Amino acid sequence: MAAEVTSTILNIEPIDLEYAGLKKDSLKGEVAVVTGGASNVGLGYARAIAWAGAKVVVADINEEAGRETERVINAENGPDTALFVKTDVTKEEDVKNLAAKAFEKFGKVDILLNNAMNMRLNGPVLSSPVSDLDQSYAISARGVMLAVKEFVPGMIERRHGVVTYSATQFHYCPPMVGGTIYTAGKAAATSIMMSLANEVKGTGVHVFCLTPAGVGRFDFSKFDPSKLPPPPEGMKMPKEMPKFDPSMFAMPGFHSMIPPEAAGAAMVYCILHAEELHGSGIIINDAFEAMNYPYPNPATVRKMESRRLNDMELTMIFCNMGPGFKK
Ligand SMILES: NC(=O)c1ccc[n+]([C@@H]2O[C@H](COP(=O)([O-])OP(=O)(O)OC[C@H]3O[C@@H](n4cnc5c(N)ncnc54)[C@H](O)[C@@H]3O)[C@@H](O)[C@H]2O)c1
Repeated sequence: MAAEVTSTILNIEPIDLEYAGLKKDSLKGEVAVVTGGASNVGLGYARAIAWAGAKVVVADINEEAGRETERVINAENGPDTALFVKTDVTKEEDVKNLAAKAFEKFGKVDILLNNAMNMRLNGPVLSSPVSDLDQSYAISARGVMLAVKEFVPGMIERRHGVVTYSATQFHYCPPMVGGTIYTAGKAAATSIMMSLANEVKGTGVHVFCLTPAGVGRFDFSKFDPSKLPPPPEGMKMPKEMPKFDPSMFAMPGFHSMIPPEAAGAAMVYCILHAEELHGSGIIINDAFEAMNYPYPNPATVRKMESRRLNDMELTMIFCNMGPGFKK
């Protein structure tokens, strides 16, 4: 188990991937880049990958959290395990600088985790400025493309690599979820990733998308829906909002908040199975189930009774919600 390291800036718990059935050093010799690696999901991924023996380059726009992430990972795994490079993934010069620093420090990059996003870009179409959509595409689609162009050619040359994207399960926005601008950016990046899977087929580079779904550290007992900020101007809200019920997060297939460390375990497992996942978009619960991970603990884990809907089925469900043609 990694040495217990604390942080006053980052929201972390000790990381134990042995509990998840993974082996230390299973990624030894690999070098990973994690964009948006200084918070929540990306931080969990970066720490888990380092626990599994890889070197990690954390690329994030947040300098304070990024530097602290580097310190934490090095304290947990030994000096020179992690490198932080301040990066705005929307800027070509930043991504080129990221690549230069990563190659200078570690000589190569084998794993690219595209994870950065600004979660506040989540307004509805009618009331959001177009610049929000531009920014959503810039971080998701443009950021992914810039990073892919820097890191994937080297992987193809060495016939060895893994490229992933932190997707979302909704490719357009169902009414309850909100976040049209967010979803549009995510869908564009997912499209690039799935097309990339076709482009690099047979080259030894494996591409998949993993949707985190509910990853975070959040105390529901302190959640007060009446303190939520008002909806954006112009956004029509239903007259009666459904009552907030924390137990809904305990539904099969909808785990309660997944700790970022557990998400990291799932990502390491997926990287180790990247060849079989090539071209797939999976939700994190699928990974927990595949790895038989006793999450959140053996007493409460339950097998999902329903199978995961595929992308087409999800789209069809939402398409079928409208009135359609008159019969
Ligand atoms: N948390 C979840 O359950 C969940 C669910 C579905 C999808 N996702 C996806 O997973 C990813 C991470 O989510 P999270 O909950 O950890 O979000 P988060 O907001 O906690 O972390 C995002 C990170 O990206 C960084 N970032 C933002 N803009 C950037 C830029 N231009 N360049 C570089 N870094 C930038 C932020 O500084 C932050 O560290 C996102 O892509 C999100 O869409 C998360």
